[in-house]
Amino acid sequence: MKFSHEWIEKNPWLLIALVIVVVSFGGLVEIVPLFFQKSTTEAVTGLKPYSPLRLAGRDIYVREGCYNCHSQMIRPFRAETERYGHYSVAGEFVYDRPFQWGSKRTGPDLARVGGRYSDEWHRTHLNNPRDVVPESNMPGYPWLARNKLDPEDIVPKMRALKRLGDPYSEDDIKHAPEALEGKTEQDALIAYLQDMGTLIKTRR
Ligand code: HEC
Repeated sequence: MKFSHEWIEKNPWLLIALVIVVVSFGGLVEIVPLFFQKSTTEAVTGLKPYSPLRLAGRDIYVREGCYNCHSQMIRPFRAETERYGHYSVAGEFVYDRPFQWGSKRTGPDLARVGGRYSDEWHRTHLNNPRDVVPESNMPGYPWLARNKLDPEDIVPKMRALKRLGDPYSEDDIKHAPEALEGKTEQDALIAYLQDMGTLIKTRR
């Protein structure tokens, strides 16, 4: 009976301890190699940290809660790649802090929305989606076109990202506010959207 399967199963605490050992070992075997694989640790070719305007736009995307209805993660299934383009790869998200993957799709996935529409389309759509997509249930965000960005806001944000490892130079940070001069929140959000997922392009 000693050290038999039956004995283990009749000792709940021992069973729990052994289950934890097995599960953590299984987890380590799956997770640890990811830290050493090129495909999961290196940025895709051409990926740069967000420009000041796009970074500001990304913060507006998060502030307005766009992620509540839109994911940014194309899964490697035929139905998804046919609709959205190449599936998402880890190396595209190196500078995404926090990432916006999500799984809630009231609206379409946006991971490769960059370049799909004109800036003008986005302006109309963000002001009132029903002006371009009559059946849309996406809310309008007309205030984004009225709110001006505060250029100085971007400096501490870039500093924080630099500390986390984004390769911004001191010069980049010093000149960043100039890129935001006179721009609206809508300009920034559109700059962010138009760049999304464009490094891997497979769509028609
Ligand atoms: C209540 C859910 C909801 C929220 C919140 C929402 N959207 Fe949408 N969005 C939709 C739906 C539904 C569609 C599809 C219909 C349409 O094009 O308007 C859509 C479509 C889009 C499209 C066009 C995508 C394509 O491939 O055709 C873009 C771009 C977009 N949304 C951006 C945004 C941004 C940016 C925000 C935040 C400021 C946002 N959405 C917030 C529901 C939402």
